Amino acid sequence: MRHMSAPPRSRTALVTGASSGIGEQFARDLAERGYALVLVARRADRLDALAAELADRFGTAAEVLSADLGAPDGTAAVEERLRADGPDGPAPVDLLVNNAGRGDGGAFAEQDPDDVEHMLDVNVRAVLRLARAVLPVQIARRERGERDPMGIINVSSMAGEMTVNPGGSVYGATKKFVTLWSESVALEAAPHGVHVTAVLPGFVRTDMTRAVQESGTPDAAFVPKERITRDALRAWAAGRTSVVPGAQYKLADGLLRAIPRTLYKAVAGRRTVL
Ligand SMILES: NC(=O)c1ccc[n+]([C@@H]2O[C@H](COP(=O)([O-])OP(=O)(O)OC[C@H]3O[C@@H](n4cnc5c(N)ncnc54)[C@H](OP(=O)(O)O)[C@@H]3O)[C@@H](O)[C@H]2O)c1
Repeated sequence: MRHMSAPPRSRTALVTGASSGIGEQFARDLAERGYALVLVARRADRLDALAAELADRFGTAAEVLSADLGAPDGTAAVEERLRADGPDGPAPVDLLVNNAGRGDGGAFAEQDPDDVEHMLDVNVRAVLRLARAVLPVQIARRERGERDPMGIINVSSMAGEMTVNPGGSVYGATKKFVTLWSESVALEAAPHGVHVTAVLPGFVRTDMTRAVQESGTPDAAFVPKERITRDALRAWAAGRTSVVPGAQYKLADGLLRAIPRTLYKAVAGRRTVL
């Protein structure tokens, strides 16, 4: 009698902020690699269009989960999806891409306090809640002997590496938080075989950087979004705790560590760095 083994389960990735920019690119790359997808953002029409396109091009099975990650009920709905663990319900999530974010800038004294709070909710609170929902499931699956790659990519920013970031104080602080937290959790998760990787882009041409793009910032300052997602997925697969995509930003990262804080503060301009 021939032994019939079960067909390999396709892996599943949940991408937040998949309706545009870097998150949309993550969805495309992951679909091309054969992942089933859960697409999360507020703009359901854009997610529906992307899901249809990826089904057509790659045969991707994509769920659309429209949610506001700045609101507790929106975040809770995504947490619930991330807690899926059994063979009977929705497929467990092998890779969470915590990408959704707000990039509000301006002098802190002039920022709308509600916008500031919403940015904290999306950039920090939701990132933590989603990671906290999926990590125990992934650790348990590894302990049960599952050997598929599992884990989280947290999209942080070089903005968090600045010594000071006038004009982007809160945004930069949210990203500093994400990087420190993500790299620490990466070391906690590594012994379980679960990979957690922070990706720190510099400028990328997306909706978030419209003003920067229109301000005459040189081309060399921008890294293509395809490069961000490729480097992030490679670093994650390799189990690296963080990655800075683009040679110019790798160099900047090294310089930022070498320049004395006092000198940096003395010359810091008013440009927001995303
Ligand atoms: N562009 C850069 O230069 C740069 C540099 C470093 C880091 N980053 C980071 O990269 C990530 C993606 O940004 P991007 O550049 O691709 O900008 P983007 O094109 O504006 O994309 C932002 C994404 O986040 C989603 N989002 C925003 N608020 C949300 C909310 N309340 N609930 C659910 N989803 C929400 C948006 O979807 P909806 O509007 O449909 O909800 C959108 O899909 C962010 O974390 C950003 O901080 C960007």
